Amino acid sequence: MRQIQVFDNKMEGSRAIARYIANLVKRRQEENKPVVLGLATGSTPIGVYEELVRIHKTEGLSFKHVVTFNLDEYYPMRPSSHQSYAWFMHHHLFSHIDISAQNIHIPDGALARNHIPAFCRGYEAQIKNAGGIDLQLLGIGRTGHIGFNEPPVSADTITRLVSLHNITIEDAAADFGSISFTPTEAITVGISTIMQAREIIIAGWGQNKAAIIKKAIEANVDEHIPASYLQTRPSVRWVLDKEAAAELSEVPMQSEA
Ligand code: F6R
Repeated sequence: MRQIQVFDNKMEGSRAIARYIANLVKRRQEENKPVVLGLATGSTPIGVYEELVRIHKTEGLSFKHVVTFNLDEYYPMRPSSHQSYAWFMHHHLFSHIDISAQNIHIPDGALARNHIPAFCRGYEAQIKNAGGIDLQLLGIGRTGHIGFNEPPVSADTITRLVSLHNITIEDAAADFGSISFTPTEAITVGISTIMQAREIIIAGWGQNKAAIIKKAIEANVDEHIPASYLQTRPSVRWVLDKEAAAELSEVPMQSEA
């Protein structure tokens, strides 16, 4: 069942997502079972990670039994570079919590090009061996991409090397100083990989996401709007702030976690 929750601001939305993740992590810990999280980078999840770190520090939530798979990484990209998604994850989350290094998986942007196909097959196998993704956290790009699955994209795509859309490169350019320094490729999990997650939470904040969010939720499912594939599966929860939800035909205002 699709669910849309609209919060007054991104801080409230981020807190609600973090609380949901924390409850899942805690429940699994009590059952003595691992939990597999699919994680996103970019500006959208920063508040979620901040709140998870706060919950770890103030409430003692442990991440020892948490396994993570990140959606994507720029290519080429050294993990030690401050623009890498590997660095982003360590800076915003991993270095502040008690997760085991061996449980962290992030596509490797430093591989030689000819090693990428085998790496991607291995990444898919690692997700399967971990039992599949329990909860996938997503943001949405202005092109409608989820992960770095740029339009047009088919539903059966899995982890692979992709070219970034010009709009995505423009949006990333601020982090790289200029467009000419911005990577034009990335390694990303596929639409099929994402759709196999047991639960999906997709977040969107701010007015510049409103138009694409309307299309993703209300237009027909279309390879030109990658996030529209989410309409075809149950258990997708959209968490938006008022600005991001502004163009939806029906806005279900609710703000409880
Ligand atoms: C990041 C990712 C992307 C971003 C999207 C939104 O791992 O997969 O799909 O979620 O580009 O980026 P922000 O949050 O920076 O607006």
